Amino acid sequence: MCGIVGIVGNREVAPLLVDALKRLEYRGYDSAGVATIRDGKLDRRRAEGKLSNLDRRLAEEPLAGQVGIGHTRWATHGAPTEANAHPHFCRGVAVVHNGIIENFAPLRAELIAKGAVFQSQTDTEVVAQLLSAYREQGLAPREAMQKTLSQLEGAYALAVLFEDQPDMILGARSGPPLAVGHGEGEMFLGSDAIALAPFTDEITYLDDGDWAVISHNSVEIYDHSGKPVERASQISRDAAYVVDKGNHRHFMEKEIYEQAEVVSHTLSHYIDFAEGRVKADAAQIDFAALDRLAMSACGTAYYAGLIGKYWFERVARLPVEIDVASEFRYREMPLPGRMAALFISQSGETADTLASLRYCRDSGLTIGTVVNVRGSTMARESDAVFPTLAGPEIGVASTKAFTCQLSVLAALALIAGRTRGTLSAEEEARSVQALVEVPRLFNEILTAIQPQIETLSRELSRFKDVLYLGRGTNFPLALEGALKLKEISYIHAEGYAAGELKHGPIALIDETMPVIVIAPHDRYYEKTVSNMQEVAARGGQIILITDEKGAAATTLDTMATIVLPVVNEIVAPILFALPVQLIAYHTAVFMGTDVDQPRNLAKSVTVE
Ligand code: F6R
Repeated sequence: MCGIVGIVGNREVAPLLVDALKRLEYRGYDSAGVATIRDGKLDRRRAEGKLSNLDRRLAEEPLAGQVGIGHTRWATHGAPTEANAHPHFCRGVAVVHNGIIENFAPLRAELIAKGAVFQSQTDTEVVAQLLSAYREQGLAPREAMQKTLSQLEGAYALAVLFEDQPDMILGARSGPPLAVGHGEGEMFLGSDAIALAPFTDEITYLDDGDWAVISHNSVEIYDHSGKPVERASQISRDAAYVVDKGNHRHFMEKEIYEQAEVVSHTLSHYIDFAEGRVKADAAQIDFAALDRLAMSACGTAYYAGLIGKYWFERVARLPVEIDVASEFRYREMPLPGRMAALFISQSGETADTLASLRYCRDSGLTIGTVVNVRGSTMARESDAVFPTLAGPEIGVASTKAFTCQLSVLAALALIAGRTRGTLSAEEEARSVQALVEVPRLFNEILTAIQPQIETLSRELSRFKDVLYLGRGTNFPLALEGALKLKEISYIHAEGYAAGELKHGPIALIDETMPVIVIAPHDRYYEKTVSNMQEVAARGGQIILITDEKGAAATTLDTMATIVLPVVNEIVAPILFALPVQLIAYHTAVFMGTDVDQPRNLAKSVTVE
């Protein structure tokens, strides 16, 4: 959610902190701030709103110093005002924090009873207050840190500066990630390796419960009990990624256009193109030994999982239990022995998905994770990691991560089908051939439909509500379409299984509610056409997303018909995701919203 950074440098750090925060801004963008120590004095600049406001503030009033911390915020406790922006100061202590201190209310009350005066409404300020209280009692920085951490409940990644210790920063992690970056005579802390990529590619990830002291040339790491521990460093590949928009207007547009490349890259991990077969050894889970698969994820990743469920059940005859992670973690679902669990996450840090993973792990299940960020907590806590090779996804609305997740799930379902003996060699060959063609088709489809969707989106931007319908794997895609549209254009949208229409939502249909129907000419087509007739009979305006066969078979009047090539059923949701993404993108552009950083959202949701 929030992004944090710290630098013990040998040059002026304020511009470096802002540079790192720019790479973290996708995590939160409602206020930002940096603090440094200079001549034994803490100083800070903070600003409401986007990081560019902080940049302007720093241009007007520069901040000197070679040691500093920074923060970009997604507000949890307290409005996104300057007073609530981090770093929080308290008598010689500066703190930035990502997460939620769940017991902040009793801690705050206790501190106030002892005379503390709070400057903000945040949960974070209790950390600064506790640290400074312990320092005033005569504790050294490390002791004060250990004592403070032992009182905190909830989730946190922290970076702390002490005014009287100008050459060190303390960091701590319980829940959200925190990485230490090793430089030449400089050390760094950051919420992820991408933030630190301009400075170093040598990264040490703190384990859950760890805290660390960094100085110019050293890092000491302690576990939750204060015992010194060794954590290996690694060379991060994230340093290689260029995080810019190229010649696109938005990261989201760039990421939509990158899909041919990243899906092809991802598929090559699971498919032997020369042999035309899936790579059974890429599975790392013995699907043949399972009676059931549990799956869980949030948001777009959950919709990818829902589509995966159809594939695993049809192709591999493997029953799948799937739920959103915020429910899964508390459902107390029975987890029988011959079951494995599969989690799906772009960031690998989503709090609810991580909690569900740990619940299954504690119950003794084999854990697999389809994940984009390789060094993430979920990747590190899984028995089997199934990478999506999408590269950094910066646009808050997920696009390329989604189609890469679908590609991995399709390949895994085929592998499961083969190992369980439910997939014939011919069907495997046909499905693999279809997957192999996906990257080429992505480019063809984008070029073909983009102008039409731009025109359609101008019209859509006039409406207040939109309904998405689909059957089979196109039902989760309808849910994804509605999510994408509402999150970036703020138009109210709902996704429904087309067959559910008559059980309630049909009451909403009139000329003010366009209905986007995703219906390739598959086994459900005729039934979906009947549902479209029901919409048309009630004055509803239909936007039909279909294939060449489906377009030829309908005589219905539509507001627009978007036509894709006829493709194998297993790849249809991957390719039909394109019009869904483009509709949301162009509508949002016409609405003039902040496409890459929509209001109230954050990319990596590390709180419940
Ligand atoms: C929507 C979106 C979110 C994420 C969800 C899970 O466009 O991006 O719904 O899919 O927050 O995030 P990850 O995949 O990082 O676990």
